[in-house]
Parts: sequence; C-alpha cells; structure tokens
Amino acid sequence: MIAFEMLIWPRKKFRRFKLGKTRVWMRWHIWIGLAVGPVGVMHSGYHWGGPLTTVLMVLFIGVIASGIWGLALQQVLPQVLLNEFPNETIEGQSDAVMAFHQSEAITMRDRLPAGDPDTTSLLDVDLMNYLQAGNKSRSRFISQRESEQLFIQLARQFVANPGEIARLKTMCDDRRRYDRQARIHGWLHNWFCVHVPLSVALCVVLVFHIVTALKYW
Ligand code: HEM
Repeated sequence: MIAFEMLIWPRKKFRRFKLGKTRVWMRWHIWIGLAVGPVGVMHSGYHWGGPLTTVLMVLFIGVIASGIWGLALQQVLPQVLLNEFPNETIEGQSDAVMAFHQSEAITMRDRLPAGDPDTTSLLDVDLMNYLQAGNKSRSRFISQRESEQLFIQLARQFVANPGEIARLKTMCDDRRRYDRQARIHGWLHNWFCVHVPLSVALCVVLVFHIVTALKYW
C-alpha cells in the first residue's frame, strides 16, 4: 500500500506518458492512504515496539496527518483565493507590480509639502519600505489597524492633498492584499514540504524495518 502511495510521485514526473487520470490517481492515493493507517496499527499488534518501529510509526502518523491537512487546505484555500482575489495579480508578480507603483508613490510623496521629521520618516521610510517589501519590512503600515490610524493622521496633516493621501492608502491596501494572497499560496504549497520528505523518510526506515524483520525471522 505504501509502495502504491509513493507511485504518485513518479506518476507526476512522467505525466507526459499518460499513466491514467490525475483525479483517479488522487482518489486512490487518498483512500489507500487513509486505509493504510488502521492496517499499519493492526500490523503493529498495537505496540510501539523498539526504537526503529517507534520512529517508523511516528513517521507514518506524520505522513497521514500531513496528507489529511494538505487535502483539507486544497479543499478550502482555492475557493478563498477565488472569492477574495477574483482579478488578482499572478502570484510571484506582486513585487514587480509594487515596484512599478513605487515610482508613482514617490511622485505622490513629492507633491506633499514638507512635514515635521516624524511625518517625513513615516512617509519616506515606513511607507516606502512597506510598499516595497510588504510584510518583510518592519513598517508600521503592516498592521491594518495601525495603517488606518496613520492615514487618518496623514489626511488631517495634509488637508490640501486628499487625492495624494488617498492614492498612497490604496497602494498600501494593494500591498496588504498581495501579501495575504502570497500567504495563502504559501499555505497551499508548504504542507508538501512536510508530506513528501516524511514519506521519503518513511520509506527509508521501512526498508530497514523489513531487512531487520527478515533477519530476525
Ligand atoms: C503512507 C501514506 C502516504 C504516503 C507514503 C504518501 C506519499 C505522497 C507523496 C510522495 C506525494 C507527492 C507526490 C507529488 O510530488 O506530487 C503525495 C502527495 C499527496 N498526498 Fe500523500 N501519501 C500518503 C498518505 C496520504 C493521505 C492519507 C492523504 C490524504 C488523506 C494524502 C494526500 C496527498 C495529497 C492531497 C497529495 C498532493 C497531490 C497533488 O496535489 O499533487 N496522502 N503523497
């Protein structure tokens, strides 16, 4: 059963050979993956055994749990992406889009009269860093609530430039949306970095388990 579970990997790599439909492979992968849990527990005789079999069991639980987690994410997150970002920028291009907006942001900023040093730092450092690096910056604009407050403050300070402040705010909101979109894409893909290495480790330990068991018998 585990060998079958692993076959999904080469199957994906050799997709061009048309080795059956992805949907069918996936359905079998899920059901056999779920069935292998109770079968493994019965096979163990309800004991953890020695260190090798305990490691094997922990990996086994990890693979099945991460598979269920990934499947749940794959059911929920694509819909969230579709609902929240129907016309959104392609993931991975948001930095390029924001770099494009950067020059506009600088123009907007230059139209504002010189403010006090705090405001200058807020606009030239915090705001610009946020537009450029989003969540990776240490900007005060990362928090939506704080950002709203800061823009209220800026709107009061630059009453003669409502258009510029509104545009800068829109750009910040766009940056926040792109970051959220990237985070969701991260969730959608990162579980794989648990499921696949654990599966490989499971197979390696399983080979040791089989060899030891055959020697013992
Ligand atoms: C011993 C049990 C299992 C093993 C050895 C295993 C192994 C693997 C491997 C190696 C892949 C990677 C294939 C690729 O690169 O595309 C994969 C993908 C996947 N597995 Fe498992 N798996 C197991 C159990 C499960 C279970 C129980 C579930 C869910 C209930 C599950 C859900 C998935 C999903 C959703 C994918 C992603 C397929 C895709 O989107 O391309 N797996 N599994």
